[in-house]
Amino acid sequence: MSKKAFFITTPIYYPSDRLHIGHAYCTTIADAVARYKRLAGYDVFFLTGSDEHGQKIQRKAQENNVTPLAYVDKIVASFQNLWVKLNISNDDFIRTTEKRHYEVVQAIFQKIYDQGDIYKSEYAGWYCTPCETFWLERQLNDGKCPDCGRSVELVKEESYFFRMSKYQDRLLKYIDENPAFIQPVSRRNEMINFIKNGLEDLCVSRTTFDWGIPVPFDTKHVVYVWFDALVNYITAAGYLNDREKFAKYWPADVHLVGKEIVRFHSIIWPVILMALDLPLPNQVYGHGWLVVEGDKMSKSKGNVIDPIGLIEEFGADAIRYYLLREITLGMDGNFSREALITRINADLANDLGNLLHRTLNMIGRFNKGIIEQPGENEAVDEELTKLASETAALYEKLMDNMDINSAIKHVWTLVSRTNKYIDETAPWALAKDPAKKDRLNTVLYNLAETLRIVAILISPFMPTTAPKIWEQLGLTTDFAQATLADAQGWGRLPASTAVAEPQPIFPRIEDKPAEEKAEQVAAADSTVTAKAEEPAIEETPEITIDEFAKMDLRVVKVIAAEKVKKADKLLMLTVDLGTEQRTIVSGIAKHYEPEELVGQNVVMIINLKPAKIRGIVSRGMVLAASCDDKLKVVSVPDMPAGSKVK
Ligand code: ME8
Ligand code: MG
Repeated sequence: MSKKAFFITTPIYYPSDRLHIGHAYCTTIADAVARYKRLAGYDVFFLTGSDEHGQKIQRKAQENNVTPLAYVDKIVASFQNLWVKLNISNDDFIRTTEKRHYEVVQAIFQKIYDQGDIYKSEYAGWYCTPCETFWLERQLNDGKCPDCGRSVELVKEESYFFRMSKYQDRLLKYIDENPAFIQPVSRRNEMINFIKNGLEDLCVSRTTFDWGIPVPFDTKHVVYVWFDALVNYITAAGYLNDREKFAKYWPADVHLVGKEIVRFHSIIWPVILMALDLPLPNQVYGHGWLVVEGDKMSKSKGNVIDPIGLIEEFGADAIRYYLLREITLGMDGNFSREALITRINADLANDLGNLLHRTLNMIGRFNKGIIEQPGENEAVDEELTKLASETAALYEKLMDNMDINSAIKHVWTLVSRTNKYIDETAPWALAKDPAKKDRLNTVLYNLAETLRIVAILISPFMPTTAPKIWEQLGLTTDFAQATLADAQGWGRLPASTAVAEPQPIFPRIEDKPAEEKAEQVAAADSTVTAKAEEPAIEETPEITIDEFAKMDLRVVKVIAAEKVKKADKLLMLTVDLGTEQRTIVSGIAKHYEPEELVGQNVVMIINLKPAKIRGIVSRGMVLAASCDDKLKVVSVPDMPAGSKVK
């Protein structure tokens, strides 16, 4: 049986400038939906591209003293680079300057002209070049473009017109009969009102510049850039050049677009399709706008966010997660650096990262790295497995509804519940009692199995992180072959799986103001230059063997560990020296969960002068190796407590 097809598109962006976080937002949503549909078993065609003709681009090129094609070539390369860096899984990238597209646009223009729906006349009215939109005098807002608020230009030229008016009633009927066609509903109502105000025939050619596709029967005209651009969706789907492909994918399932261009997609585009006698797309979804720190992005304000910089700093998955989790589809949203860092630290490093780390660590220490066959479930286990199954089912419903941020929220409810499950079941306590081995196996299995499900569910959002979790769990099947059904069946993780060494998936981000960071970077740079000739390890003053011998270093066994309240770096440890027990405070809480340390034999200096830290008298200090952000206590697993280190 052949798979069901699913065709999703983004707008084809103007290569008049580099793309910013707003464009990345739209493409990330489309990518998440495309990946989700592939996971759900669909044969997906995910299209994006560039809209390269028109007056705006021609002027930009002129300002830069290059040909329009040279100008767009360079910027389009930056689009493609961005999509690679953001891990966008588009199946095609269409450029409107490609031959395949020229041919389709010219054929369509000719066909519509031949059937009498395009006629020659004269256009006299206003034009907004940034929006590439015609406006009637009465539509202007205080003499400005009603969409973007910028100045409009008076245009008077011979033009071809498309008989949109003829299709007004058919279009209204279609919108009425297909409530899901325009989403969200607020946009739908807006469009209905717009159409009811009367559809004017649309000017579809220009003669005052030449950067466009020539009208085949009158080559002093170029096709209006929006007519040209909208047609991209069927060019790429194979209209006129790949019948089989076209039959499979057309009509599109979703045209995802920003709210400002819903009108072009839900009025002009359907009418072109009606004139061609082609089926209309199932849905035009208008997403909201992204503002930055509460403010509209603009070059003059200098607050345009370059997604490449963010990806380099935080990684693609963190940016994708933020955009998808923080903003409700259809609503406007805010991009804030602080909120991004909060999400990374709270949701990714803390909730998800810790769950993985704790789970793998405990499987490593208590079960020699093997996920053993689970025993009977108890009530607390049933609660977890039930939530996992419910989450996977609900996720499907929400994702099918494009309610991406709710779907993510529910996955994180499962993650948090699973972290709580660790605290409730206390595997470290079970591990101490050989009679509880079966119980321990059950708990550890349930943890790993939940993580397997979570990895699949987050894969549309975080396509780099998900397979990392899969591999660390020790799963040997190809993650790319995992399906939504695999996430919906509890217990598919094979017992006897050997987990891998835990690797942090999301390091915590130190939240420093931008200036402070810049100063640090500057300071680090100057140090590097000044010391370029010096050895990597700084020299410290020599000491004698007698001075060294003054330090009493011993192996001690950690018998208890807990977090120090209101001190996120500190752990209070109880250690056994073989002859006595002591309490010490250690600044390693960011690197170890308390339960990971319990049972470890570590090296400690025992004759260090006692110090009072947060009201606790600390008698000794555990040795640890550190490098950059990493820290490991010096552990000597095979040496008994009390052994001297010298
Ligand atoms: O309109 N927030 O291209 P365009 C969210 N070429 N999304 C944003 C955004 C923001 N601040 N800014 C831009 C065009 N976008 C035409 C499309 S389609 C046949 C032709 C996104 O380069 C949003 O999806 O101006 C918006 O619709 C799109 O970029 C506009 O990109
Ligand atoms: Mg625009």
